[in-house]
Amino acid sequence: MAVILQTVFIMSAIAGILALALTLANLYIANYGECKIVINNDKEMVVDGGSTLLSSLNEMEIYLPSACGGKGTCGLCTCKILEGGGPILPTETPFFTKEELEDNMRLSCQVKVKQDMQLSIPEDLLNAKKYEAVVDFIKDETDTIKLLRFKITDGQEIEFKAGQYVQLLAPPYPGNPESVYRAYSVASSAQEKDAIELIIGYVEEGLVTTYVHQHLSKGDEISFNGPFGDFYLRDSDCEIIMVAIGTGIAPIRSILYQMKDQQLERKATFFFGARTQKDLVCADEMYEFEKTIPNFNFRPVLSREPEDSGWKGDRGRVTDSIEKYIEEGVEQEAYMCGSPVMIESAVGELKKKKVPEEKIFYDEFG
Ligand SMILES: Cc1cc2nc3c(=O)[nH]c(=O)nc-3n(C[C@H](O)[C@H](O)[C@H](O)COP(=O)(O)OP(=O)(O)OC[C@H]3O[C@@H](n4cnc5c(N)ncnc54)[C@H](O)[C@@H]3O)c2cc1C
Ligand code: FES
Repeated sequence: MAVILQTVFIMSAIAGILALALTLANLYIANYGECKIVINNDKEMVVDGGSTLLSSLNEMEIYLPSACGGKGTCGLCTCKILEGGGPILPTETPFFTKEELEDNMRLSCQVKVKQDMQLSIPEDLLNAKKYEAVVDFIKDETDTIKLLRFKITDGQEIEFKAGQYVQLLAPPYPGNPESVYRAYSVASSAQEKDAIELIIGYVEEGLVTTYVHQHLSKGDEISFNGPFGDFYLRDSDCEIIMVAIGTGIAPIRSILYQMKDQQLERKATFFFGARTQKDLVCADEMYEFEKTIPNFNFRPVLSREPEDSGWKGDRGRVTDSIEKYIEEGVEQEAYMCGSPVMIESAVGELKKKKVPEEKIFYDEFG
């Protein structure tokens, strides 16, 4: 018995010493004190060291894109660290080419602020702002996809290019103790400066989509930041091919508003893939755009529509439609949004039709 008591005592003492050592380490080793962050040799701020660079930048009201909420999986939160970044981490290297690594590109969510830093961030990213808004309406487009309108309430106006995205902040809610950001493409007209619309699909056990689909109601306050992204309509005379599935219609809808507002005469076709007719999000609006945009065609294509439903449109996958309808030898640009799998196979089909790679633009939602 005495031996057991003695062993318990020794184990408890060791555990106590380890806990004390950890606390001291946190206090003295992990205490980096105040660190100065200088951006583009211009803007500077002092922050408490120890947080990730991404969240320290947020404190400075600088919002880098971060579709995965800082998990190191989306690769969007990049910036150039000229001084003070420490060695590159194994979690960062897969996201960069050899040239980018030599150019000091880093993932800001993986780098901790431990000393003074010098950063270089593209000016357009410095224009991203945080907006406070209220939910103006929520409309069920399908069983799993909602169209939401957010009216900006803090007196600011949002400037964005049709096709860009914002990051929506879901606050803590029962089942999710932490605030979390996710990327959503703006689906409304860029001419509207005091509100944005988003089209958000439900992802099972997804943190933000569960918040949006199960906890958010009309009149609730919400915040978002942005705009971000280089998915927008290029200024050229090329024919426009648009391809989307599901919620990928969101940025295309915004671009179609732009084409309508500017009465663009470029020939444009939108191939929209869905399973059945009831999954055709915003279909009425798309048919309306055919009347209000000079040379626009909407071509929905259904993969699981019952044979006897009376559907007279295309059947199959969007990639089948590219194969069927896209002409070779015409100057074309493609704009696509959807899952990485769809994008990969659509890029393959477009290349077969000799659409140059540099004229294929896309945002992957997965
Ligand atoms: C530039 C950009 C624009 C985007 N625009 C839109 C948009 O307009 N509308 C929209 O609905 N979404 C859009 N997304 C996707 C969006 O950012 C989220 O990834 C998605 O809503 C899931 O977030 P979540 O927090 O609910 O799920 P998470 O908590 O991030 O994920 C939970 C689990 O679901 C998996 N998962 C994540 N997304 C999907 C998915 N789409 N299908 C199946 N499994 C998934 C994850 O791997 C994880 O295992 C966009 C993404 C990017 C990068
Ligand atoms: S926020 Fe996604 S990788 Fe950094």
